[in-house]
Amino acid sequence: MKQMFAKEVDAGLSAEPKKLPSKYFYDAKGDELFVEIMNAPEYYLTDCEMQIFKQRTDDLIRLLAFDQPFELIELGAGDGTKTIHLLKALHASHSFRYCPIDISQHALDELKAFVEGEIENIEVFPIQGDYFAALDKLEKNNTPRVMLFLGSNLGNMSDADARNFLKRLSAAMQQDDRLLLGVDLKKNPDIILPAYDDSAGVTSEFNLNLLRRINRELGANFDLEAFEHAPLYDPVKGEARSYLVSLKAQEVYIEAIDRIVHFDEGEKIHTETSKKYDIESVKRITAEYGLEYIEQIQDERCYFSDVILRKTQTP
Ligand code: AVI
Repeated sequence: MKQMFAKEVDAGLSAEPKKLPSKYFYDAKGDELFVEIMNAPEYYLTDCEMQIFKQRTDDLIRLLAFDQPFELIELGAGDGTKTIHLLKALHASHSFRYCPIDISQHALDELKAFVEGEIENIEVFPIQGDYFAALDKLEKNNTPRVMLFLGSNLGNMSDADARNFLKRLSAAMQQDDRLLLGVDLKKNPDIILPAYDDSAGVTSEFNLNLLRRINRELGANFDLEAFEHAPLYDPVKGEARSYLVSLKAQEVYIEAIDRIVHFDEGEKIHTETSKKYDIESVKRITAEYGLEYIEQIQDERCYFSDVILRKTQTP
């Protein structure tokens, strides 16, 4: 794990322009800060999807559920605060088992306890691992599957990674299985940009925490005062991008790779992309992987969409 981290930091800081992978945001502190981001007034994504799960539960069930017993598989399940609304309504009317997948065993233990505390007799079957390893653990059986991938997490992947993800996800599905894919929609930049630059400075802390993690785990000496969070939104590409800008010319030593990295004043490290979608491009890309568009459910402000797809045939 540490070796992989060191290797990716080395490669990213050797690239032109410099970059760091956003998956390393999520250490214990990063997890905490992300929860704070989700509660920030500017970060509309969570509220929008929560509204869909609370207010459109009947539509979700109509579009997703099977009349026979099925598996409800959630990728990157987190704390289950959105899913619980669907689970409660489903449990009252359908027969299913809930299989949350998460990289963190701790998160899964907490989620299982939470769900079982809220819903009597629900069958929870957590699977620990990264998405692909966990999907591989799911045996092919004839039980229908409903996959949930919420929160616009797809938007943090590069185009190539997103395609690979959809390909492998689709391969884990059998004909007629369903996928609910949460995507953040393109909209007025004045709404998107503040979501990545909240006034309380939590997103800034979240971004800078990556340098703190490199200091701690790789023995680096980044001066956190000498870098600044700098987000931007590109409405043509539909990309919110986060950067860390070097406030002066400086050198940073990273012990784990025994390297001195030079930064010019104003030089940027690209740390994250959060892609925003239009529904036509979601339809087009998913169709390439044998996932047919059925319907979408948007929040009242039409900022966010939960797209419902059906597996047609093996692509
Ligand atoms: C997890 N992911 C969907 C978040 C997003 O909106 O891209 C991560 C995030 N980064 C900064 N704020 C939130």
